[in-house]
Amino acid sequence: MTGVLYGVGLGPGAPDLMTLRAARLIKGAAVVAYPTLAGADSFARSIAADLIAPGVREIVMDVPMSVERAPAQAAYDKGAIEIAAALDAGQNVVCLCEGDPFFYGSFMYLFARLSETYQTEVVPGVTSVTACAAAACMPLAARNERLTVLPGPLPEDELRARIEGAESVVIMKVGRHLAKIRGVIDALGLTADAMYVARATLAEEVVLPLADAPEKAPYFSMILLTKGADPWL
Ligand SMILES: C[S@@+](CC[C@H](N)C(=O)[O-])C[C@H]1O[C@@H](n2cnc3c(N)ncnc32)[C@H](O)[C@@H]1O
Repeated sequence: MTGVLYGVGLGPGAPDLMTLRAARLIKGAAVVAYPTLAGADSFARSIAADLIAPGVREIVMDVPMSVERAPAQAAYDKGAIEIAAALDAGQNVVCLCEGDPFFYGSFMYLFARLSETYQTEVVPGVTSVTACAAAACMPLAARNERLTVLPGPLPEDELRARIEGAESVVIMKVGRHLAKIRGVIDALGLTADAMYVARATLAEEVVLPLADAPEKAPYFSMILLTKGADPWL
């Protein structure tokens, strides 16, 4: 009997925003796996830390930070080989994933490598988008409105065109792209409609109008923007 591969969403940071199913699987795990970025501590592991029993085997995938895809792919290839060995030995493997596994989640890289060979289950999680909207008290989409999700690293021209054509907008992966994103939103005259949220649901959470946001943003930050929202819906 081979083991089951679980991709488990942990929510956006606060451990009590994890689903009961995720908590049950982590508590019962003999093997957990998670990525770390360029040797830094794993945010995903920190969310689940209180649930990981002593003696559990931890498979750590150290993903280098580089624009080229090959080094990250090599890290996931190596991790997939270790995970496959545990599954072949009959052990279930619980992969920890911040937010939701299928929403810009690292688990997708393991899913692509392993799900055709091994029984795989995905446990959805509260996403950072819904957590940031809640923190900012900012309803995102009602009736037939459209919500556009954009990654901050997009080129300036593309960001501008996509924001111009959108209704509600969420911009993720803000980090070092804050100045560029701010410039685009300012040029479109939309700064007054935008909120900045960093490290939502954690003790260090910051929620500010974009106009008051700091000059530097952490990687775990987001900008939310709604245009012409009707207060009476
Ligand atoms: C690789 S994506 C991971 C998304 C995650 N799988 C989810 O479901 O929300 C990382 C981006 O998510 C956003 N993010 C994740 N957690 C966040 C938090 N607690 N507060 C603000 N933004 C967050 C940031 O924009 C960050 O750059």
